[in-house]
Amino acid sequence: MSRAAVLAGLGTHVPSRVVTNDDLAGVMDTSDEWIRSRTGIAQRHWAEPGIATGDLAVEAGGRALKSAGSGDVDLVVVATTTPDHPCPATAPEVAHRLGLNSVAAYDIAAVCSGFVYALASAAGAIAAGIAERVLVIGAETYSTILDPQDRATSVIFGDGAGAVVLRAGEPSEPGALLGLDLGSDGSLKDLIIVPAGGSRMPAAAPGESGARPAGTYFHMQGKPVFRHAVTRMAASSRAVLDAAGWTPESVDWFVGHQANVRILHAVADQLGMARERTVVNLDRVGNTSAASIPLALGDAVSAGLLNPGDRVLMSAFGGGLTWGSTALVWPAVEAG
Ligand code: ACO
Repeated sequence: MSRAAVLAGLGTHVPSRVVTNDDLAGVMDTSDEWIRSRTGIAQRHWAEPGIATGDLAVEAGGRALKSAGSGDVDLVVVATTTPDHPCPATAPEVAHRLGLNSVAAYDIAAVCSGFVYALASAAGAIAAGIAERVLVIGAETYSTILDPQDRATSVIFGDGAGAVVLRAGEPSEPGALLGLDLGSDGSLKDLIIVPAGGSRMPAAAPGESGARPAGTYFHMQGKPVFRHAVTRMAASSRAVLDAAGWTPESVDWFVGHQANVRILHAVADQLGMARERTVVNLDRVGNTSAASIPLALGDAVSAGLLNPGDRVLMSAFGGGLTWGSTALVWPAVEAG
């Protein structure tokens, strides 16, 4: 790409309500010990009823614009699997609420890989001269699609939003995306699915008890997803390292999708990277799907781990199945 997409701002937001493992053990058959040892998660944030994905996106997006030092963007891309409505997209209203009236705005649905897909879409718009500055937001309220009876999913996911501003620049600048690798395997779409609510199976009316139909909840077959996540994230990461001309040992921070600390360590092992180079914040926020990578970036910057000049590898994996990776040298950007 002659015109590179350069990271120029970062902002994050999680709802204030904290749900601990012990809170969940009080309402379903699970334990703090099981959740911590199988996933690494200690707590997650869940939005209060009535708070939607767009509300979290506006908070994170506003902070990213402030961090970038300018509210001037000409495109807003929101990655989410939990949009405010099936129609229209969430991004136009988010843009409007941020005072960005009349800019282009659309959603990307690539589940937990959504943020990397959105970065690719934004970088493509910059490379094509369609946009100069893009606000990319990953935002989710999985608490609205989790089956409260399903311990296999309820303990894993959290709500939150993270955003970056990308601007047109030079490939040699710190912050330039140095390669993008994306992929999918739709033959395995049933491994991660909300069956109802789309055209294949329109959402049914609540049952006589007023209960929500089971098909409108999120389902995941954890074991096979785990295996595919490790294989695909490792292969995708290798492709991006090759494009950037980096060895695994030269990477300062691996910022992988925060699904499970065992997955992150397994990917690091496969790449031949020290596990200590892995950024982990899922212990505090759980799996926030499309918000996961920017939330991890924000935490790593705030904690003083991630500093200007550090080599950062990002890799995500999620429903679809989908996966994607990118890399950059961290620029002089503070988390908003
Ligand atoms: N508490 C207690 N026990 C539980 C719980 C729970 N919350 N959940 C499951 N168990 C039980 C199961 O019933 C099972 O019991 P059994 O052996 O008697 O049958 C046992 O624990 C083991 O269950 P598994 O599902 O095999 O547990 P596993 O070690 O695979 O961990 C997990 C499950 C954490 C979901 C793991 O498979 C995982 O992380 N998968 C990948 C998730 C992922 O990467 N997602 C990314 C994409 S998400 C997206 O795109 C939205």
